[in-house]
Amino acid sequence: MASIRLTLDDEAATLRCAGVLAACAQPGMLLLLEGPLAAGKTTFARGFLRALGHLGQVKSPTFTVVESYYLPCFTVHHFDLYRINDPDELHYLGFDDFLAGDALCLIEWPSRAAHALPSATVAIHWQLGVGESREITLECGDENLYKTLHVELKKCFISVL
Ligand SMILES: Nc1ncnc2c1ncn2[C@@H]1O[C@H](COP(=O)(O)OP(=O)(O)O)[C@@H](O)[C@H]1O
Ligand SMILES: [Mg+2]
Repeated sequence: MASIRLTLDDEAATLRCAGVLAACAQPGMLLLLEGPLAAGKTTFARGFLRALGHLGQVKSPTFTVVESYYLPCFTVHHFDLYRINDPDELHYLGFDDFLAGDALCLIEWPSRAAHALPSATVAIHWQLGVGESREITLECGDENLYKTLHVELKKCFISVL
């Protein structure tokens, strides 16, 4: 699978990176956001939703598991599976129905869903760097999307590998 690595120096960089991804967003996409607490996954989701035109707050779905945004372009479901202890709990939340529709899904802590997830359009892995910096790796199964993301991210970030 093709991957892209880059450094996000601060919160503003995370928001800009999310904006680049949002510019390539399509209904039905599945984006997995994997990384430790406070890596910036919810911050990324906020930047992504803002770039798609969402003007209100972006609440972390830590307690609600999912927050849905009915945007003019398409619906976005933002999940945080941190509190899911058993993939069976997802079944009762109607998780499969959320994923099966035309909505775009952003999922924090996807590892909690174990095998209940279809393959991702893009999986982003965060590692904490020095101070505010974050190292991310984007894995992308679609060759065309990979090429577009690589070109667009290179325009914004000198650190792109
Ligand atoms: N490079 C960065 N990207 C994103 N957030 C950062 C960065 N550096 C520091 N922060 C801070 O780290 C926190 C990230 O929180 P959040 O996005 O909720 O993380 P997560 O959802 O991964 O647990 C915020 O308080 C944010 O201001
Ligand atoms: Mg979060």
